[in-house]
Amino acid sequence: MEKKVVVLGSLNVDSILHINHLPKQGETMAMNDTTVAPGGKGANQAVAAKRMGAQTSFIGAVGDDQNGAMMLSALTNDQVDTKHVTVMNGISTGAAYILLEEDGNNTILINGGTNQQLTEAHIEAAREVIENADVLITQFETPMATAIAAFKIAKDAGVLTILNPAPAAANIPGELMMLTDIIIPNETESEIITDIEVTDEASMVASANILQSLGVENVIITVGARGAFYQTTKGHGFVDAFKVNAVDTTAAGDSFIGSLAANLDHDLANLAEAIRVSNKTSSLAVQGAGALPSIPTREQVFTALGK
Ligand code: RIB
Ligand code: NA
Repeated sequence: MEKKVVVLGSLNVDSILHINHLPKQGETMAMNDTTVAPGGKGANQAVAAKRMGAQTSFIGAVGDDQNGAMMLSALTNDQVDTKHVTVMNGISTGAAYILLEEDGNNTILINGGTNQQLTEAHIEAAREVIENADVLITQFETPMATAIAAFKIAKDAGVLTILNPAPAAANIPGELMMLTDIIIPNETESEIITDIEVTDEASMVASANILQSLGVENVIITVGARGAFYQTTKGHGFVDAFKVNAVDTTAAGDSFIGSLAANLDHDLANLAEAIRVSNKTSSLAVQGAGALPSIPTREQVFTALGK
């Protein structure tokens, strides 16, 4: 049966500023190009889950503006259910300004807009969808109170909860950590939570131990081009990334997370294999331009895996 994934999260129109390198303070610098693409961590994760074959619903908000229309059609083009995407009058749709360097690395500025206007009432309105899901994913581009409200509903209904603590936040409420089944930070986000720099395996284990002590049983730390470390109550391991030439790493983590949600068994029995598939998903995404448009389909991922 198709997995049911619900994403509570952000919808951003990404303005991508193509530059050779970051400017210095006070510098005036020419860009090579500017492009616009649908994005937002929530939207990227939802589209990744859907393209990997999960039935996917979105909880979020857009403004009554052009960007809002663009984000709504980005979701509906991919058959992500938008019944719980609220259109808010007089508030701008979320926007991100991505400084994309030649080497594929990026620096992102975000104007939260409607993403920041979601409330617990919006979560309550989506209660049934959450209760009927297999997996609920959220990040930190919508208010903390909505994440807690959604995870409470999910936990009570036995829905697997995945927290992507991004953008990085130092003091995640203990309540949210206790409601989280799997936390998936990248190395930067992990360091901000645990105060441990992620370098070698020992530092990954030490970071995961802290995250577990905060109340989350299962930890995956994504380490970019190297791959992903995981630690559960049963032990830990590392799954190497696929080596590729990245043109745009935006949504690398998001495509990993959406793919994982679509492929992971509820008891996590296939965790290492699901991570391998997710590594392949993000390795394809970083070879394409733009966040959401670069996310591969299930067919593309499994073909690339030789299956
Ligand atoms: O994770 C990448 C995303 O972060 C971008 O699409 C941007 O919108 C920001 O939310
Ligand atoms: Na990309």
